[in-house]
Amino acid sequence: MKAVVLQKFIEVFGDDKDANVYFAPGRVNLIGEHTDYNGGHVFPCALTIGTYGVARKREDNKLRFYSMNFENLGVIESSLDDLKPYPEADWTNYPKGVIWAFGQKGMTVPCGMDILLNGNIPNGSGLSSSASVEVLTGFILRDLFGFEVTNQDLALIGQFSENKYNKVNCGIMDQFAIAMGKENNAIFLDTADLSYEYAPIKLEGAKIVIACSNKKRGLGDSKYNERRFECETALRELQQVTKVATLGDLNEKSFDQYKNIIKSDVRMKRAKHAVYENQRTIKAVEALKANDIKLFGELMNASHVSLRDDYEVTGIELDTLVEEAWKVEGVIGSRMTGAGFGGCTVSIVKDEAIDTFIEQVGKAYEAKIGYAADFYVVEIGNGPMKL
Ligand code: GLA
Repeated sequence: MKAVVLQKFIEVFGDDKDANVYFAPGRVNLIGEHTDYNGGHVFPCALTIGTYGVARKREDNKLRFYSMNFENLGVIESSLDDLKPYPEADWTNYPKGVIWAFGQKGMTVPCGMDILLNGNIPNGSGLSSSASVEVLTGFILRDLFGFEVTNQDLALIGQFSENKYNKVNCGIMDQFAIAMGKENNAIFLDTADLSYEYAPIKLEGAKIVIACSNKKRGLGDSKYNERRFECETALRELQQVTKVATLGDLNEKSFDQYKNIIKSDVRMKRAKHAVYENQRTIKAVEALKANDIKLFGELMNASHVSLRDDYEVTGIELDTLVEEAWKVEGVIGSRMTGAGFGGCTVSIVKDEAIDTFIEQVGKAYEAKIGYAADFYVVEIGNGPMKL
């Protein structure tokens, strides 16, 4: 890949003098969905697929971007003197947002850059291609200009840029999983205080399989903000009767004790998901540590049911993929992953069942939905790096 991106860089920008090559992964979340903006736990891991980038400094203030994933857009040019988001800036609003965010944090980028990207995360799959671009950009800025920031800072700056510049109100999970990724480990992160622990994923005789629904997201982002708002409102109601800072401070028992203060059934279901999912995530990590992969899988399945029935972020595409997966012998657990409303599912499948899984789930999905899903057997990789 290094040779491929450098060759393209020469084609687009004339030569590769002083250019460096970088990589940042995508991520998949194993369990702990829609908990990261509710002060709960998440359990994601970085993947070996992600975004490759070539970058070098310029002598002027120009920013020249090119993506091998959107070749039809050609070189998109902007400048450090005009760091505003524009719709026609398209995907470059993500790296521009990070450059802007560094400036907001007192780290002004001193000169322009030529940047070329090439990602092998399937487009719009919900494996966090945008967070991958954000963390990659931060990593490039640190390397080129010597800014003193940790990988955790890169995650926070990435999230800040996504929230404030690109106006998507996401939590910290995606950027954190990418910036802090570690080969063969998932990250057990408490989003209330960012304390975290690596947990080795030893799936002897099984693999992580991602099924991409290929459903266009559409209304996803507005629904995402709606769910956030419902949880925040439920939290305010609960705070009238108990001292909690976030929904993550409750467990099943305390939630059941106080839940009747929530004045709408819908909000009650949303809050229930946030509370129960957080507890499930804690239990899932305990199960993993005890080598009880069967229980881990059952908790994944329960997570999906809760996202389907209480949080209502699945939809027929993700439900079909998961419900068909559950029918296949050798599937340890299967659930939607990421924001939902499209995107993909994550399953743990025994080695000998993977071919059947792909065939059987693929066929049933296409028959019901009318177009095909894509399947990827993935590996857990490291965080951002210079190649
Ligand atoms: C998206 C967001 C994350 C998280 C998930 C749901 O991926 O970017 O912050 O909220 O949805 O778990």
